[in-house]
Amino acid sequence: MDQVAADFVRATRMADAAGFDLIELHLAHGYLLSSFISPLTNRRTDEYGGSLANRMRYPLEIVSLVRAIWPDAKPLSVRISATDWAPGGLEGHDAVEIARMSIAAGADIVDVSAGQTVPEAKPVYGRQFQTPFSDRVRHEARVPTMTVGNISSAADVNTILAAGRADLVVLARAHLWDPYWTRHAAFDLGYSLPWPPMYATLNRYTPRMK
Ligand SMILES: Cc1cc2nc3c(=O)[nH]c(=O)nc-3n(C[C@H](O)[C@H](O)[C@H](O)COP(=O)(O)O)c2cc1C
Repeated sequence: MDQVAADFVRATRMADAAGFDLIELHLAHGYLLSSFISPLTNRRTDEYGGSLANRMRYPLEIVSLVRAIWPDAKPLSVRISATDWAPGGLEGHDAVEIARMSIAAGADIVDVSAGQTVPEAKPVYGRQFQTPFSDRVRHEARVPTMTVGNISSAADVNTILAAGRADLVVLARAHLWDPYWTRHAAFDLGYSLPWPPMYATLNRYTPRMK
């Protein structure tokens, strides 16, 4: 465990040296730190197992170590699985506590994902399927959140933000489906988009895109 902690510290230094503006510690989806948090995967009988406070002990040690060397001006996010979607596993109310503890340990924002922790999980998918977890964490823990999961249009993004269900909205597959998603959203919302220089003369024919 000491070696893994040292590796996280080393990776954080390398991320800073490489010029990244934000890093996200993965406390979700069954990866190592996530496996400490879920009662379905953590069977330890020492001070790192048992109660949620104990199961959070090692992930929080990593959050604190990373925060201590990650520059103050750069945000640190943690990604959490808000539910295990399995009997006896993590549920929404646990996510509120996990978020609160992570922020207290030095994280700046919580990226609220779900599941992928145990093979027997029964996920509930659908439009914006993880946004209710972000909404709950944001309002009950009173911490900044990101939401992600089946969010497709710029209008959906703005609706989530305006309703206060998250502070940031993250899209994954939408960018795979349309690599120009950001440009298309900007155009739809009336932002100016520069043409590449060799097409600059087109500006006079497409005034909206100047
Ligand atoms: C090809 C692909 C690879 C992904 N890899 C990761 C990953 O390594 N770590 C992670 O946290 N999420 C990963 N995700 C999940 C996304 O971060 C995101 O939570 C998920 O796709 C739901 O958002 P979406 O509906 O906007 O795609 C991946 C998703 C896709 C489609």
